[in-house]
This record gives sequence, C-alpha cells and structure tokens, in this order.
Amino acid sequence: MRTPVIAGNWKMYKTADEAGAFVREFLPLVQDADGVEIVLAPPFPSLAAVAALTRGTRIGVASQNVHFADEGAYTGEVSARMVRDAGAAYAIVGHSERRHYFAETDEFVNRKVRAALAAGLVPILCLGETLAERESGRTIEVVERQIRAGLAEVPGSAAGRILVAYEPVWAIGTGKTATPAQAQEVHAFLRGTLKQMWGEEAAGAVRILYGGSVKPENAAELMGQEDIDGALVGGASLSAQSFANIVKHR
Ligand code: 13P
Repeated sequence: MRTPVIAGNWKMYKTADEAGAFVREFLPLVQDADGVEIVLAPPFPSLAAVAALTRGTRIGVASQNVHFADEGAYTGEVSARMVRDAGAAYAIVGHSERRHYFAETDEFVNRKVRAALAAGLVPILCLGETLAERESGRTIEVVERQIRAGLAEVPGSAAGRILVAYEPVWAIGTGKTATPAQAQEVHAFLRGTLKQMWGEEAAGAVRILYGGSVKPENAAELMGQEDIDGALVGGASLSAQSFANIVKHR
C-alpha cells in the first residue's frame, strides 16, 4: 500500500506572516485527515517558520529547490543540508519552472536528487513534457529520458524515500488538467520504467504524484487512478480552505 501524498508548492508566494496565517487556518481543517502525507513547500525565507509551526503535526515541509553541493561559493543558493537543518523533510527538485527559467538540465537535477537523499531529505523529482512535445507525440520519450537521467546512480533501495511528480508543462497554471486517463497512462509508463531500472518491488514503493491544475473539483478522479499516488498542487494550495478540500477529496 502506498500512502498518498498531497503536496502544496507555493512557488514565489507568501511572506512569513502570510505563511503563518495559512498554517494556523489549515491545521484544524486537516486534523482528521488520516492515511495521507501532507506537505507544504513555502519559499526559503518562511521554511523554518512553517517547519516550526507544523512540528509534531501530520504536515511535513519541503523546499522548492536545493543546490547539489554541500556548501561552497554558490551565491544565492541553499544546500540540502541547510534545508534539512531548517526543519524540512522533503525537497522539490527539477520543477519545470526551474528547468525553464533557470536552465536546469537533467544532469543538474540528478545531482540535486542525490544531494537531497544524502542529506536525509525526500526528493520530489518533477518531470513532464511541454505542449509541443505532447503534440509531436514525444511525451513518453521525454518522460523516460527525464526519469532515467533524474534517478541515475540512485539505487532501488531508496525507492521508499523518493517521490516522482508528473507535471505536464501545458497543465501547469493553465487550468488545463490532464484527463485522468492521460495522466494514468504516463504514470503507468513511469512505474514500468522504474520496474526496468529497479525491479517490481522497488517500483511499487515509489509514490508518483500528478501536478498541473489540480483543484478540489478534479482531485478525487485523478487520485482514483491506479498509479496516481497523490498530487503536487500549485495555485490551489495557496488557500487553506481549497488545499484542505483537496486533501479531503483525494
Ligand atoms: P498549478 O496547480 O498552479 O497548475 O501548478 C502546478 C505545479 O507546478 C505544482 O508544482
């Protein structure tokens, strides 16, 4: 049994005060939500505050990025160890916005995945095709490259400590959700690829989340698919009420 994960990626939204207000409103709304891992990914400046406010609750905290080095002369960057030290247990890695705006390559993303694991964080490896790639029939080829490269040199023994998030780029922030069947097709393919890489048992232990315009209205149908083990939510995670509704309607 894979425990579902509902993660909220706040992107570059919310000051520390706004983050605190969210947590205080959100906690009572999800206190009865059993059998689900809930994750919040605030911007770096409010990471420690959100981790402190959620300590001892069912909510875990993620960074939205990490650097691959342990420390060093990398102005503006934050290491996985620092993220862990701030109280986070997860790290989003390779989000399409980072691949696109910050030119992160598969090789970079792989180094970040390995740095997160080495620091004791659960990496949330994001991948997904662009609209042009889907329309030219290259979806499977693209996600296969991304998952194989992203997890290169990662042993199958880490399967239970890795989350994969399939986020088709054309569905992010556009209101266009992949249909449950479209998402399930890619998730099943990803799990099949993990099976080739790591064997059946390890592949069966990896939680694969869907991301891209997930809302309270479409969460249950997406989460009902066999290989969809949760959601990575952007816009709809900014309101405590709507994110709680997604947690409950998974
Ligand atoms: P939206 O839910 O706003 O489409 O964003 C998805 C996303 O990028 C989560 O990481």
